[in-house]
Amino acid sequence: MPTASDRPRRSALYLPASNAKAIAKARTLPCDVVILDLEDAVAPEMKAEARAAAVAAVEEGGFGHREVAIRANGIDTEWGAADLAAIAGSKADAVLVPKVGCPQDIGRYEEALEKAPPAMQLWAMIETCEAVFNLKAIAAMAPSSRLSLWIMGTNDLAKEMRAQLTPCRTPFLPFLSTAVAAARAHGLAILDGVCNEFRDLAVFETEARQGLMFGFDGKSLIHPAQVDPCNTVFSPSEADLAWARAVIAAFGQPENQGKGAIRVDGKMTELLHLEQANRLVAVAERIAAAG
Ligand code: COA
Ligand code: MG
Repeated sequence: MPTASDRPRRSALYLPASNAKAIAKARTLPCDVVILDLEDAVAPEMKAEARAAAVAAVEEGGFGHREVAIRANGIDTEWGAADLAAIAGSKADAVLVPKVGCPQDIGRYEEALEKAPPAMQLWAMIETCEAVFNLKAIAAMAPSSRLSLWIMGTNDLAKEMRAQLTPCRTPFLPFLSTAVAAARAHGLAILDGVCNEFRDLAVFETEARQGLMFGFDGKSLIHPAQVDPCNTVFSPSEADLAWARAVIAAFGQPENQGKGAIRVDGKMTELLHLEQANRLVAVAERIAAAG
């Protein structure tokens, strides 16, 4: 049985929960995750309305196989407590919390979600300079809390660092990879940050491929046009699957029984590659089943 942690999360589309048209549209798009935002995408005067709209949207349903998260305002903002209480009582699959800096922050969100259904997950944005230096400690909260997924918040990181967020993302690469390693060390799923250039899909695809190379499970998105290219990048390709099938078949040959390293297509292939091959096939099967 696949668990919540290995659901496909190739594409996670944000939308302002105050935008009813966008919510209706999200129900028809092939994204794996929908994130109804109450935070950065919603102006202060619309916060209460957005909160009510997000809770009503998950109550109404219609999101099919998509996982639905609601992003709350930070716990120390004037909207945080009301957001968390409303989300805890909602049918959302996950609450996404912003600007987490240290493990104690996860503890505070965990407490605020005490009355939420046991299956409700806690997802956290990694988007502050403080978090960059606490990645391991924050990830280590996973086994003792609802924490199951991280999303990189590259716009907020750029703002706080005063770094430039250009398509190559050079200033961010060291901790994009450190975040992936910290997440994997503690069994968290992890999604890449958004690409603001939603009109230029070539830029988007290059950035999405960089995220795939770094090991992200998928990417967070801001516009419907980004969903299809994102799904393509984060789905195992035909070439990947052909390789996986060849590795599985080769290790299944009688002459390779009991061997740890063999030759497949002229390359050294070990049992760890067989595990990677089995995982790729399983991911492809889960994507096919969800579609
Ligand atoms: N999710 C669902 N639908 C969306 C959407 C989104 N993120 N962004 C745009 N749409 C819809 C629009 O409502 C519009 O629908 P319509 O054709 O029925 O009118 C259609 O897609 C085309 O939109 P478009 O005109 O190309 O975009 P825009 O200029 O109106 O909006 C943004 C551009 C960036 C403001 C908008 O895409 C957006 O709000 N994105 C999400 C921002 C966000 O949530 N940020 C927080 C996390 S970083
Ligand atoms: Mg932000």
